[in-house]
Amino acid sequence: MDTKSTKLLSCNDENIKIAADILKNGGLCGIPTETVYGLAGNAFDKSAAGKIFAAKGRPQDNPLIVHIADIADIGQITDNFHPTAQKLAEKFWPGPFTMILPKGDKIPYEITGGLDTVAVRIPAHETALKIIRAAGIPLSAPSANLSGSPSPTTAQHVMRDLSGRIDAVLDGGVCEVGVESTVITFVGETPKILRPGAITEQMLKDAAGDVIVDENIFRHVENNVKAASPGMKYKHYSPLADIAIISGDFNCFKKYALSHFEKGVFALCFEGEEESLSPIPCVSFGKESDAYSQASALFSALRELDAKKATRVYAREPLKSGVSMAVYNRLIRAAGFEVIDVE
Ligand code: TXA
Ligand code: MG
Repeated sequence: MDTKSTKLLSCNDENIKIAADILKNGGLCGIPTETVYGLAGNAFDKSAAGKIFAAKGRPQDNPLIVHIADIADIGQITDNFHPTAQKLAEKFWPGPFTMILPKGDKIPYEITGGLDTVAVRIPAHETALKIIRAAGIPLSAPSANLSGSPSPTTAQHVMRDLSGRIDAVLDGGVCEVGVESTVITFVGETPKILRPGAITEQMLKDAAGDVIVDENIFRHVENNVKAASPGMKYKHYSPLADIAIISGDFNCFKKYALSHFEKGVFALCFEGEEESLSPIPCVSFGKESDAYSQASALFSALRELDAKKATRVYAREPLKSGVSMAVYNRLIRAAGFEVIDVE
């Protein structure tokens, strides 16, 4: 791949126009959304899709999410915007919510990893919406990290992973939600959550009636298995350190971590627990009682552990429902599915 000089653009109207021009001309730009930063390209352009896969080092069969700004543009993405999808769109768009729908003809198979379905969402971020409108095209955008590393929640994270590989990054500050959108599919009889996010199982049940959660949300999917969502198979969010989730309350956690403390060990704890874990160095990811704060802090915390050269990390266990379902889903992948039960 050619080395590019990647521009870091501050967020103003002039730079939004520069970003939109890059995208219109087949280039790639890191853009802020309310979930995580996306690596955007023209969703109608298969060569832009190829550049996205190359820049991230992403497996070609792992499809991209298409982002639009206005519901009126949905006809460019799918021919079957059925009543259930319409109802959910009215309720959760713009927002951290992605629907898998039958692919329209204008979307190339390079975007969908060869599938006849396409993932689509309207992000709830002013800058993202402005860029999509200024470019005048739907944007395909996976998370703007190198494949396998934690998703980026700041423009600096994007620069660290992709500087030299893409044209520009637009700095829109810290992403509010912090974990990627909820992904739902309608391929089976009942709508199914393939990836949990800030739009929760309960919110979707309240809006659409019956909704199920894919059985692989907390499990490892072997490479040779056909997963409902190709992204489930791949190694994700993995920092350099070897992470284990410690299942049990804080006292059990503390006892375990202290008795296994040696050079390179860190605790990935909740805010306020640091002092009582001394002398173990700590990185925190939000408050125990606030799943939203955990979601917004998790990916930054994983990157911080790398920066501090942690080699072995014991992590506190999030709950498995509500917004915490998303936090647990990302953390267990970062931990390579290692959970130590100490209760
Ligand atoms: O919040 C988000 O969704 C962020 C921001 C940038 O919008 N994007 C994001 O994209 O997380 P990415 O590419 O990192 O994750 C997309 C997920 C993958 O797990 C992929 O396998 C799944 O969605 N996916 C995309 N299209 C699909 C399809 N047609 N069928 C099944 N799964 C699909
Ligand atoms: Mg990703």
